[in-house]
Amino acid sequence: MAEPREVLRLEGLRKSYNIGRPNEVEVLHGIDLRLDSADFAALVGPSGSGKSTLLNLIGLLDSPTQGELYLRGQATRDMDDEGRTALRSRHIGFVFQFHHLIGAFTALENVLMPWMVANGKPDREITDAARGLLAEVGRGGFSDRKPDQLSGGQQQRVAIARALVTRPALLLADEPTGNLDTKTAAEVFALLRRFNEQVGCAVLVVTHDPRLSATCDRTITLVDGRIVDG
Ligand SMILES: Nc1ncnc2c1ncn2[C@@H]1O[C@H](COP(=O)(O)OP(=O)(O)O)[C@@H](O)[C@H]1O
Ligand SMILES: [Mg+2]
Repeated sequence: MAEPREVLRLEGLRKSYNIGRPNEVEVLHGIDLRLDSADFAALVGPSGSGKSTLLNLIGLLDSPTQGELYLRGQATRDMDDEGRTALRSRHIGFVFQFHHLIGAFTALENVLMPWMVANGKPDREITDAARGLLAEVGRGGFSDRKPDQLSGGQQQRVAIARALVTRPALLLADEPTGNLDTKTAAEVFALLRRFNEQVGCAVLVVTHDPRLSATCDRTITLVDGRIVDG
């Protein structure tokens, strides 16, 4: 396997909400973190500790109040929205607790969506790649089914294929199994692990399930907006 390569580095990352208002509140108090290409890391911590806030910052969906975030060595603080969007669509895949698949589209169309946002009309090559990903995540073929014709676990598998279609360096997953039964959750988690090992995609996954976090190489624990372990 290739040498681990830095995917993400956070330096003194802080985040406040409601800046300048009476209810201004700092929820992340200086986060330092590095993730490498081979990492499969759990992000754990009590509800309200800042896990989703941190994931949104890492995913360039929101901006830190202070600190610097390097994605593939590139500093992001001074980037404009356009630059951040481009960087995000090139390097990051997302899986959320609820799949956020588009109901009117088939599984295949949903998987192609992030690629289309970045590149336009899908060509033969990416369509084949998307079909291949769907075949890998699902044992039965469900490319042509709409989300409401799929079980919760199948929907989450499609969401994982969608997150991986652009071949991101980093996969962020916010409680991706929070809505699934124990067995299905373990299967979906195993799928994340498989892609981590097969394509060297770094994975940072929020989970409340200690049995799942125990299967990760690293556990990063967040308490009251600070990393206390990991
Ligand atoms: N948009 C927001 N505006 C104000 N406060 C927020 C916002 N989003 C989250 N918070 C607060 O930030 C803290 C961390 O929330 P969150 O990141 O969602 O935690 P977790 O995902 O660990 O449950 C909580 O106190 C929450 O109420
Ligand atoms: Mg959360």
